[in-house]
Amino acid sequence: MAKKITDKVTWVGKVDWELTTFHGDELSTHRGSSYNAYLVRDEKVALIDTVWKPYDREFVENLKKEIDLKDIDYIIMNHNEIDHSGSLVELMREIPDVPIYCTAKGEAIIRGHYHQDWNFVNVKTGDTLSLGETTLTFIEATMLHWPDTMFTYLSGENILFSNDGFGQHFASHSLFDDDVDLCEVMYEAEKYYANILNPFSMMAKKKVNDILAMNLPINLVCPSHGVIWRKNIPLIIEKYLAWADAYQTDQVTIVYDTMWQSTRLLAQAIADGISAVSPSTTVKLLNAAHDDKNDILTQMFRSKAVLVGSPTVNNGFTYAIAGILEMAKGLKFKKKKAAAFGSYGWSGEAPKLIAEHLQKAGFELVGEGFRTLWVPDGQALAQATEYGKEFASSL
Ligand code: FEO
Repeated sequence: MAKKITDKVTWVGKVDWELTTFHGDELSTHRGSSYNAYLVRDEKVALIDTVWKPYDREFVENLKKEIDLKDIDYIIMNHNEIDHSGSLVELMREIPDVPIYCTAKGEAIIRGHYHQDWNFVNVKTGDTLSLGETTLTFIEATMLHWPDTMFTYLSGENILFSNDGFGQHFASHSLFDDDVDLCEVMYEAEKYYANILNPFSMMAKKKVNDILAMNLPINLVCPSHGVIWRKNIPLIIEKYLAWADAYQTDQVTIVYDTMWQSTRLLAQAIADGISAVSPSTTVKLLNAAHDDKNDILTQMFRSKAVLVGSPTVNNGFTYAIAGILEMAKGLKFKKKKAAAFGSYGWSGEAPKLIAEHLQKAGFELVGEGFRTLWVPDGQALAQATEYGKEFASSL
Protein backbone atom coordinates (compact mmCIF):
# COMPACT_ATOMS: atom_id res chain seq x y z
CA MET A 1 0.00 0.00 0.00
CA ALA A 2 1.34 3.43 -0.94
CA LYS A 3 2.13 5.85 1.88
CA LYS A 4 2.34 9.60 1.69
CA ILE A 5 5.64 11.09 2.88
CA THR A 6 5.11 14.76 1.99
CA ASP A 7 2.51 16.61 -0.08
CA LYS A 8 4.46 15.76 -3.21
CA VAL A 9 6.20 12.49 -2.37
CA THR A 10 4.64 9.07 -1.85
CA TRP A 11 6.36 5.81 -0.91
CA VAL A 12 5.34 3.13 -3.43
CA GLY A 13 7.74 0.36 -2.46
CA LYS A 14 7.42 -3.13 -1.05
CA VAL A 15 8.06 -4.25 2.53
CA ASP A 16 9.47 -7.77 2.46
CA TRP A 17 8.77 -9.24 5.89
CA GLU A 18 9.75 -12.73 4.75
CA LEU A 19 13.21 -12.00 3.42
CA THR A 20 15.75 -14.02 5.40
CA THR A 21 18.73 -13.83 3.05
CA PHE A 22 19.89 -11.35 0.45
CA HIS A 23 22.43 -11.54 -2.36
CA GLY A 24 21.69 -15.26 -2.57
CA ASP A 25 22.86 -16.52 0.81
CA GLU A 26 25.63 -13.95 1.21
CA LEU A 27 23.79 -11.72 3.65
CA SER A 28 21.37 -12.67 6.39
CA THR A 29 18.36 -10.41 6.85
CA HIS A 30 16.91 -11.40 10.21
CA ARG A 31 14.57 -8.43 10.24
CA GLY A 32 13.40 -8.68 6.62
CA SER A 33 13.85 -5.69 4.35
CA SER A 34 12.07 -3.30 2.06
CA TYR A 35 12.58 -2.12 -1.49
CA ASN A 36 11.69 1.54 -1.39
CA ALA A 37 10.40 3.30 -4.49
CA TYR A 38 9.11 6.84 -4.46
CA LEU A 39 6.64 8.76 -6.57
CA VAL A 40 7.17 12.51 -6.85
CA ARG A 41 4.12 14.40 -8.09
CA ASP A 42 4.65 17.99 -9.16
CA GLU A 43 3.70 19.55 -12.52
CA LYS A 44 5.69 16.61 -13.82
CA VAL A 45 5.71 13.18 -12.23
CA ALA A 46 8.83 11.14 -11.51
CA LEU A 47 9.13 7.60 -10.21
CA ILE A 48 12.36 6.94 -8.30
CA ASP A 49 13.46 3.29 -8.44
CA THR A 50 11.33 0.15 -8.54
CA VAL A 51 11.29 -3.06 -6.46
CA TRP A 52 12.73 -6.57 -6.60
CA LYS A 53 11.51 -8.74 -9.46
CA PRO A 54 9.42 -11.27 -7.48
CA TYR A 55 7.15 -8.39 -6.54
CA ASP A 56 6.99 -6.75 -9.97
CA ARG A 57 3.27 -7.41 -10.66
CA GLU A 58 2.31 -6.37 -7.16
CA PHE A 59 4.40 -3.21 -7.53
CA VAL A 60 2.83 -2.21 -10.84
CA GLU A 61 -0.71 -3.00 -9.67
CA ASN A 62 -0.22 -0.95 -6.51
CA LEU A 63 1.29 1.87 -8.52
CA LYS A 64 -1.79 1.90 -10.76
CA LYS A 65 -3.97 2.44 -7.71
CA GLU A 66 -1.92 5.53 -6.95
CA ILE A 67 -1.55 7.03 -10.43
CA ASP A 68 -2.47 6.45 -14.04
CA LEU A 69 0.84 5.08 -15.31
CA LYS A 70 0.53 7.29 -18.40
CA ASP A 71 0.95 10.28 -16.09
CA ILE A 72 4.48 9.24 -15.17
CA ASP A 73 6.85 11.53 -17.06
CA TYR A 74 10.21 10.25 -15.84
CA ILE A 75 11.71 7.17 -14.25
CA ILE A 76 14.81 7.78 -12.17
CA MET A 77 16.99 4.73 -11.55
CA ASN A 78 19.52 5.53 -8.85
CA HIS A 79 21.01 2.03 -8.94
CA ASN A 80 20.22 -0.98 -11.06
CA GLU A 81 20.90 -4.06 -9.02
CA ILE A 82 17.89 -6.35 -9.43
CA ASP A 83 16.37 -5.47 -6.06
CA HIS A 84 15.73 -1.98 -7.46
CA SER A 85 15.46 -2.43 -11.21
CA GLY A 86 13.69 -5.81 -11.13
CA SER A 87 10.25 -4.42 -11.89
CA LEU A 88 11.31 -2.37 -14.88
CA VAL A 89 10.29 -4.99 -17.45
CA GLU A 90 6.78 -5.23 -16.02
CA LEU A 91 6.48 -1.46 -15.73
CA MET A 92 7.94 -0.62 -19.13
CA ARG A 93 5.54 -3.04 -20.77
CA GLU A 94 2.86 -0.50 -19.87
CA ILE A 95 4.80 2.72 -20.50
CA PRO A 96 7.57 1.77 -22.93
CA ASP A 97 8.48 5.30 -24.02
CA VAL A 98 8.94 6.96 -20.65
CA PRO A 99 12.54 8.13 -20.33
CA ILE A 100 14.75 6.38 -17.79
CA TYR A 101 17.23 8.74 -16.14
CA CYS A 102 20.34 6.98 -14.88
CA THR A 103 24.11 7.15 -15.12
CA ALA A 104 25.84 5.83 -18.23
CA LYS A 105 26.94 2.81 -16.18
CA GLY A 106 23.34 2.42 -15.07
CA GLU A 107 22.20 2.22 -18.67
CA ALA A 108 24.83 -0.44 -19.39
CA ILE A 109 23.66 -2.45 -16.39
CA ILE A 110 19.97 -2.19 -17.34
CA ARG A 111 20.77 -3.21 -20.90
CA GLY A 112 22.92 -6.09 -19.63
CA HIS A 113 20.16 -7.32 -17.36
CA TYR A 114 17.01 -6.83 -19.41
CA HIS A 115 18.23 -6.51 -23.01
CA GLN A 116 15.73 -3.79 -23.86
CA ASP A 117 16.22 -0.67 -25.94
CA TRP A 118 14.38 1.75 -23.69
CA ASN A 119 14.61 5.53 -23.82
CA PHE A 120 17.66 6.17 -21.65
CA VAL A 121 18.83 9.60 -20.56
CA ASN A 122 22.29 9.56 -19.01
CA VAL A 123 22.95 11.98 -16.18
CA LYS A 124 26.02 13.11 -14.28
CA THR A 125 26.65 14.92 -11.02
CA GLY A 126 25.04 18.34 -11.09
CA ASP A 127 22.54 17.60 -13.86
CA THR A 128 19.04 18.70 -12.97
CA LEU A 129 15.50 17.88 -13.99
CA SER A 130 12.76 20.36 -13.19
CA LEU A 131 9.46 18.89 -12.09
CA GLY A 132 7.77 22.29 -11.58
CA GLU A 133 8.08 23.77 -8.13
CA THR A 134 10.65 21.11 -7.31
CA THR A 135 13.83 20.04 -9.06
CA LEU A 136 15.75 16.79 -9.07
CA THR A 137 19.55 17.08 -8.90
CA PHE A 138 21.62 14.01 -9.64
CA ILE A 139 24.75 13.18 -7.64
CA GLU A 140 26.88 10.28 -8.82
CA ALA A 141 27.91 7.98 -5.99
CA THR A 142 30.13 5.62 -7.91
CA MET A 143 30.90 2.34 -6.11
CA LEU A 144 28.43 2.95 -3.33
CA HIS A 145 28.19 0.15 -3.88
CA TRP A 146 27.98 -0.47 -7.64
CA PRO A 147 29.59 1.50 -10.49
CA ASP A 148 26.22 2.90 -11.54
CA THR A 149 25.04 4.22 -8.19
CA MET A 150 23.81 7.78 -7.85
CA PHE A 151 21.85 9.77 -5.29
CA THR A 152 19.05 12.13 -6.28
CA TYR A 153 18.23 15.28 -4.35
CA LEU A 154 14.77 16.83 -4.53
CA SER A 155 14.95 20.56 -3.86
CA GLY A 156 11.79 22.18 -2.62
CA GLU A 157 11.00 19.12 -0.54
CA ASN A 158 14.64 18.85 0.62
CA ILE A 159 14.87 15.09 0.27
CA LEU A 160 17.97 13.05 -0.49
CA PHE A 161 17.13 9.76 -2.20
CA SER A 162 20.25 7.80 -1.34
CA ASN A 163 19.42 4.33 -2.63
CA ASP A 164 21.57 1.72 -0.82
CA GLY A 165 23.44 4.46 1.06
CA PHE A 166 22.13 4.80 4.63
CA GLY A 167 19.98 1.71 4.00
CA GLN A 168 19.14 -1.07 6.40
CA HIS A 169 17.60 -4.48 5.85
CA PHE A 170 14.71 -3.76 8.16
CA ALA A 171 11.06 -4.49 7.49
CA SER A 172 8.75 -2.01 9.13
CA HIS A 173 5.15 -0.99 8.79
CA SER A 174 6.19 2.51 9.83
CA LEU A 175 8.17 4.50 7.33
CA PHE A 176 10.27 6.66 9.62
CA ASP A 177 13.24 6.14 11.93
CA ASP A 178 11.51 7.85 14.86
CA ASP A 179 8.57 5.42 14.71
CA VAL A 180 10.63 2.26 15.20
CA ASP A 181 13.16 0.80 17.64
CA LEU A 182 16.25 2.89 16.95
CA CYS A 183 18.63 0.30 18.45
CA GLU A 184 17.36 -2.32 16.00
CA VAL A 185 17.61 0.07 13.06
CA MET A 186 21.10 1.25 13.97
CA TYR A 187 22.29 -2.35 14.29
CA GLU A 188 20.87 -3.17 10.87
CA ALA A 189 22.40 -0.02 9.37
CA GLU A 190 25.79 -1.00 10.82
CA LYS A 191 25.44 -4.60 9.63
CA TYR A 192 24.53 -3.29 6.18
CA TYR A 193 27.56 -1.00 6.13
CA ALA A 194 29.95 -3.66 7.44
CA ASN A 195 28.79 -6.37 5.04
CA ILE A 196 28.10 -4.35 1.89
CA LEU A 197 29.65 -0.90 1.92
CA ASN A 198 32.84 -1.32 3.94
CA PRO A 199 35.04 -2.24 0.95
CA PHE A 200 34.09 1.13 -0.52
CA SER A 201 34.73 3.18 2.60
CA MET A 202 37.07 5.63 0.89
CA MET A 203 34.30 6.55 -1.56
CA ALA A 204 31.69 6.59 1.20
CA LYS A 205 33.69 9.03 3.30
CA LYS A 206 34.31 11.30 0.32
CA LYS A 207 30.69 11.20 -0.82
CA VAL A 208 29.28 12.01 2.61
CA ASN A 209 31.75 14.89 2.96
CA ASP A 210 30.92 16.11 -0.57
CA ILE A 211 27.24 16.18 0.29
CA LEU A 212 27.88 17.97 3.58
CA ALA A 213 29.98 20.53 1.68
CA MET A 214 27.05 21.19 -0.66
CA ASN A 215 25.16 22.59 2.35
CA LEU A 216 21.89 21.22 1.08
CA PRO A 217 18.94 21.53 3.38
CA ILE A 218 17.96 17.91 4.03
CA ASN A 219 14.67 17.19 5.76
CA LEU A 220 14.57 13.50 4.86
CA VAL A 221 17.07 10.89 3.74
CA CYS A 222 15.14 8.26 1.81
CA PRO A 223 17.17 5.10 1.22
CA SER A 224 16.06 2.17 -0.88
CA HIS A 225 16.01 -0.28 2.05
CA GLY A 226 14.52 0.15 5.48
CA VAL A 227 13.23 3.23 7.20
CA ILE A 228 13.47 6.84 6.09
CA TRP A 229 15.77 9.00 8.21
CA ARG A 230 13.80 11.92 9.59
CA LYS A 231 14.81 12.55 13.20
CA ASN A 232 18.22 10.90 13.23
CA ILE A 233 19.85 12.31 10.08
CA PRO A 234 22.80 13.77 12.06
CA LEU A 235 23.27 10.42 13.82
CA ILE A 236 23.39 8.31 10.65
CA ILE A 237 25.70 10.85 8.97
CA GLU A 238 27.99 10.79 12.00
CA LYS A 239 27.95 7.00 12.01
CA TYR A 240 28.74 6.79 8.30
CA LEU A 241 31.73 9.08 8.74
CA ALA A 242 32.93 6.91 11.64
CA TRP A 243 32.23 3.59 9.90
CA ALA A 244 34.05 4.78 6.77
CA ASP A 245 37.17 5.68 8.72
CA ALA A 246 38.73 2.33 9.74
CA TYR A 247 36.03 1.91 12.34
CA GLN A 248 36.77 0.24 15.64
CA THR A 249 35.59 0.29 19.21
CA ASP A 250 37.14 -1.06 22.38
CA GLN A 251 36.10 -4.60 21.54
CA VAL A 252 37.92 -7.85 20.89
CA THR A 253 36.00 -10.53 19.03
CA ILE A 254 37.00 -14.17 19.33
CA VAL A 255 35.69 -16.25 16.44
CA TYR A 256 36.22 -19.96 16.73
CA ASP A 257 35.04 -23.34 15.60
CA THR A 258 35.38 -26.49 17.63
CA MET A 259 35.08 -30.23 16.99
CA TRP A 260 35.37 -31.72 20.51
CA GLN A 261 35.23 -28.52 22.59
CA SER A 262 38.98 -28.04 23.04
CA THR A 263 39.22 -24.93 20.87
CA ARG A 264 36.12 -23.56 22.59
CA LEU A 265 37.82 -24.01 25.98
CA LEU A 266 40.85 -22.16 24.65
CA ALA A 267 38.64 -19.34 23.39
CA GLN A 268 37.10 -18.93 26.84
CA ALA A 269 40.46 -19.04 28.60
CA ILE A 270 41.92 -16.47 26.21
CA ALA A 271 38.88 -14.25 26.80
CA ASP A 272 39.52 -14.46 30.56
CA GLY A 273 43.07 -13.28 29.99
CA ILE A 274 41.95 -10.31 27.89
CA SER A 275 39.42 -9.25 30.52
CA ALA A 276 41.99 -9.62 33.31
CA VAL A 277 44.27 -7.08 31.62
CA SER A 278 41.59 -4.85 30.16
CA PRO A 279 38.32 -5.15 32.09
CA SER A 280 36.64 -2.33 30.19
CA THR A 281 37.20 -4.00 26.81
CA THR A 282 34.15 -5.72 25.40
CA VAL A 283 35.03 -9.32 24.60
CA LYS A 284 32.69 -11.37 22.43
CA LEU A 285 32.96 -15.07 21.63
CA LEU A 286 31.25 -16.33 18.51
CA ASN A 287 31.11 -19.85 17.17
CA ALA A 288 31.54 -19.62 13.41
CA ALA A 289 29.62 -22.85 12.86
CA HIS A 290 26.58 -21.75 14.86
CA ASP A 291 26.42 -17.98 14.87
CA ASP A 292 25.29 -16.00 11.88
CA LYS A 293 28.21 -15.21 9.57
CA ASN A 294 27.12 -11.63 8.87
CA ASP A 295 26.59 -10.88 12.56
CA ILE A 296 30.08 -12.27 13.18
CA LEU A 297 31.49 -9.98 10.49
CA THR A 298 29.62 -7.04 12.01
CA GLN A 299 31.24 -7.79 15.37
CA MET A 300 34.63 -8.04 13.67
CA PHE A 301 33.94 -4.70 11.96
CA ARG A 302 33.43 -2.95 15.30
CA SER A 303 36.47 -4.60 16.94
CA LYS A 304 39.97 -3.27 17.39
CA ALA A 305 41.27 -6.84 17.30
CA VAL A 306 40.09 -10.32 16.48
CA LEU A 307 41.24 -13.79 17.44
CA VAL A 308 40.34 -16.63 15.13
CA GLY A 309 40.53 -20.21 16.34
CA SER A 310 40.08 -23.62 14.80
CA PRO A 311 41.11 -27.16 15.53
CA THR A 312 43.47 -28.57 12.95
CA VAL A 313 41.54 -30.86 10.64
CA ASN A 314 43.00 -32.58 7.59
CA ASN A 315 46.08 -30.32 7.80
CA GLY A 316 43.89 -27.22 7.67
CA PHE A 317 41.06 -25.47 9.47
CA THR A 318 37.32 -25.90 9.47
CA TYR A 319 34.82 -25.04 6.77
CA ALA A 320 33.09 -22.42 8.93
CA ILE A 321 36.35 -20.61 9.69
CA ALA A 322 37.31 -20.76 6.01
CA GLY A 323 34.05 -19.00 5.14
CA ILE A 324 34.55 -16.23 7.66
CA LEU A 325 38.16 -15.66 6.58
CA GLU A 326 37.16 -15.46 2.92
CA MET A 327 34.35 -13.02 3.62
CA ALA A 328 36.54 -10.90 5.90
CA LYS A 329 39.13 -10.64 3.13
CA GLY A 330 36.52 -9.29 0.73
CA LEU A 331 35.27 -6.73 3.24
CA LYS A 332 38.73 -5.14 3.53
CA PHE A 333 38.67 -4.24 7.20
CA LYS A 334 41.38 -1.72 8.11
CA LYS A 335 43.70 -1.21 11.07
CA LYS A 336 42.62 -4.25 13.04
CA LYS A 337 44.99 -6.49 14.93
CA ALA A 338 44.61 -10.25 14.89
CA ALA A 339 45.99 -13.59 15.94
CA ALA A 340 45.07 -17.25 15.59
CA PHE A 341 44.76 -20.16 17.96
CA GLY A 342 43.53 -23.72 18.12
CA SER A 343 43.85 -27.21 19.49
CA TYR A 344 45.32 -30.11 17.58
CA GLY A 345 46.02 -33.82 17.79
CA TRP A 346 49.02 -34.40 15.58
CA SER A 347 49.97 -31.95 12.79
CA GLY A 348 48.65 -28.64 14.23
CA GLU A 349 48.86 -26.30 11.22
CA ALA A 350 45.57 -24.47 11.72
CA PRO A 351 46.78 -21.39 13.69
CA LYS A 352 49.64 -20.78 11.27
CA LEU A 353 47.37 -21.11 8.23
CA ILE A 354 44.68 -18.91 9.76
CA ALA A 355 47.30 -16.28 10.55
CA GLU A 356 48.41 -16.29 6.92
CA HIS A 357 44.83 -15.76 5.81
CA LEU A 358 44.30 -12.97 8.32
CA GLN A 359 47.41 -11.23 7.07
CA LYS A 360 46.26 -11.54 3.47
CA ALA A 361 42.94 -10.08 4.54
CA GLY A 362 44.71 -6.97 5.81
CA PHE A 363 44.82 -7.69 9.54
CA GLU A 364 47.96 -6.78 11.47
CA LEU A 365 49.25 -9.96 13.10
CA VAL A 366 50.14 -9.89 16.78
CA GLY A 367 52.62 -12.53 17.92
CA GLU A 368 52.80 -16.17 16.96
CA GLY A 369 49.34 -17.22 18.03
CA PHE A 370 48.56 -20.04 20.43
CA ARG A 371 47.98 -23.76 20.09
CA THR A 372 47.75 -26.69 22.40
CA LEU A 373 47.98 -30.45 21.94
CA TRP A 374 44.92 -32.63 22.63
CA VAL A 375 42.38 -31.58 25.21
CA PRO A 376 43.63 -28.62 27.26
CA ASP A 377 44.16 -29.44 30.93
CA GLY A 378 44.35 -26.90 33.74
CA GLN A 379 47.91 -26.01 32.84
CA ALA A 380 47.11 -25.52 29.15
CA LEU A 381 44.10 -23.37 30.00
CA ALA A 382 46.25 -21.27 32.33
CA GLN A 383 48.70 -20.82 29.43
CA ALA A 384 45.80 -19.78 27.20
CA THR A 385 44.75 -17.20 29.77
CA GLU A 386 48.33 -15.93 29.94
CA TYR A 387 48.29 -15.75 26.16
CA GLY A 388 45.07 -13.69 26.33
CA LYS A 389 46.78 -11.32 28.75
CA GLU A 390 49.77 -10.92 26.42
CA PHE A 391 47.46 -10.35 23.47
CA ALA A 392 45.47 -7.69 25.33
CA SER A 393 48.67 -5.99 26.49
CA SER A 394 49.89 -5.75 22.90
CA LEU A 395 46.81 -3.84 21.72
FE1 FEO B 1 19.86 -2.63 -2.79
FE2 FEO B 1 22.76 -2.68 -4.38
O1 FEO B 1 20.98 -3.00 -4.22
